Amino acid sequence: MVALPEQVFELVNDKGSSKILGTRTSEGDVHLINVGGSGALDPETIFIGEIFMKASSENLRLAQKEGTRASLLISKGMESYEIQCKVKDHVTSGPVFDKMKETFAQMKFDLKGLWLLTPDRVWNESPTWDGSRRMV
Ligand SMILES: Cc1cc2nc3c(=O)[nH]c(=O)nc-3n(C[C@H](O)[C@H](O)[C@H](O)COP(=O)(O)O)c2cc1C
Repeated sequence: MVALPEQVFELVNDKGSSKILGTRTSEGDVHLINVGGSGALDPETIFIGEIFMKASSENLRLAQKEGTRASLLISKGMESYEIQCKVKDHVTSGPVFDKMKETFAQMKFDLKGLWLLTPDRVWNESPTWDGSRRMV
């Protein structure tokens, strides 16, 4: 587990950033979806709102079982980071879920569950000389 560097933590919680979740299917194929309803609860906990996803949830369940990683690519303008994560939990009740469910409901989205991921490695993927470098 690693803590997200400050600029990565800020970008993942920036409502204007693009967030793409990458998972692996049981056949080994890559699956990518948009996850606007994601962010970081703290520097060591990423959340992904399960609203419409089915295949990605299956893949996250598989990653949790096998101890493999999923990735979250976050970008805004010329800044981009890949956060490779282990899957910690899937919650459908409790104070964190209830608060998030209320927040999503205000946007007319029905939150089915919340995936909690633990950052494991962070890569700078910005188009600069720091691009493709591991940060933590
Ligand atoms: C801008 C944007 C943001 C999205 N955010 C979410 C999200 O936070 N959660 C979600 O479940 N689906 C979200 N979706 C829908 C997913 O991209 C995807 O179509 C859906 O979750 C089905 O995923 P699956 O193919 O893994 O079953 C978003 C789509 C767009 C275009």
